[in-house]
Amino acid sequence: MQKIHAAITAVGGYVPEYRLTNAELETMMDTTDDWITSRTGIKERRILKGEGRGSSDIAVEAVKVLLAKRGIDATEIEMVICATTTPDMQFPATANVICDKVGMTNAWGYDLNAACSGFIFALTVGAQFIETGRHKKVIVVGVDKMSSIMNYEDRTTSIIFGDGGGAVLLEPNTDGYGLIDSILKTDGAGRAHLHQKAGGSVKPASIETVMAREHFVYQEGQTVFKFAVKNMADVAAEIMERNGLTAENVAWLVPHQANLRIISATADRMKLPTEKVMVNIERFGNTTNGTLPLCLWEWESKLRKGDNIVLAAFGGGFTWGSTYIRWAYDGQ
Ligand code: UT7
Repeated sequence: MQKIHAAITAVGGYVPEYRLTNAELETMMDTTDDWITSRTGIKERRILKGEGRGSSDIAVEAVKVLLAKRGIDATEIEMVICATTTPDMQFPATANVICDKVGMTNAWGYDLNAACSGFIFALTVGAQFIETGRHKKVIVVGVDKMSSIMNYEDRTTSIIFGDGGGAVLLEPNTDGYGLIDSILKTDGAGRAHLHQKAGGSVKPASIETVMAREHFVYQEGQTVFKFAVKNMADVAAEIMERNGLTAENVAWLVPHQANLRIISATADRMKLPTEKVMVNIERFGNTTNGTLPLCLWEWESKLRKGDNIVLAAFGGGFTWGSTYIRWAYDGQ
């Protein structure tokens, strides 16, 4: 019997309308468009405005796009895995909320938190349910409302993050297309350099934690940068080597969008020309779990059946990883 691979068969994405430009950031903090552009490659990021709106509201739009493209009903979905670092609430899982809002009444699901590597981790987990034959339609979401945990008085960290997300549908494929390989890594020692100090069980929310601004992202940018540059490039090179991939036969690199300099270092290591690298960081910034599916959504029309695609990410934890996909369909 032919091996079952989990193939992506549709992609949806969504970014909120509001554009937080570098020019607006200049009015909020001591920074310049020139500094942000040259250090990160970012020009603007999207922000979800409005009371009572969370990550699920972004995800719902992406999932609706995906279902419409594939021409299937929400009730056909069997499972939803939501990779997010900014869930709607501590519990229940945002996956549950998405299922309820979209009407995926026959699906079960849960959230997965691997920070910026979450989408790759969730893709690999979702693929297991397809490969084993357990499910035929699994949705993997990567979404974040990073503005909800951003301290706009911290000019080094806040300028890179934005809100947005995407979703992919996984279905079985027995012709050799789909997710072929993935390498996933974690190093908990890295948690010291990128985390949220309060709001968890170690330090529950209190007046003191709020006053100390401990519910925002704490990032030691330079340290994280050094680990990200090395590990994202290493893992992308490793997946190429063990799958016989070369700069010639790789069609696309889909890199996590944290900093243009990290993306360039990974592409250089893979010896890929810039035209094979998906980059939208200048318009969306770092949407954490949202970056990879947002790239796939934006580039979907250019993707061809049989394209070798390498995804790579690095994030808090530390977590990092790479995934090799043989693309299953011609984009429209
Ligand atoms: O997504 C998951 C993982 N996250 C990442 O991969 C992010 C990795 N880190 C980075 O991308 C970069 O470290 C940042 C973009 C966050 C920061 O860039 P950097 O080049 O590492 O800046 P820095 O912290 O080394 O600061 C350099 C200088 C400092 O001034 P002095 O001490 O040299 O006088 C900062 O005070 O730039 C100053 N600075 C700024 N100046 C203008 C820091 N932030 C700003 C700012 N505007 N927004």
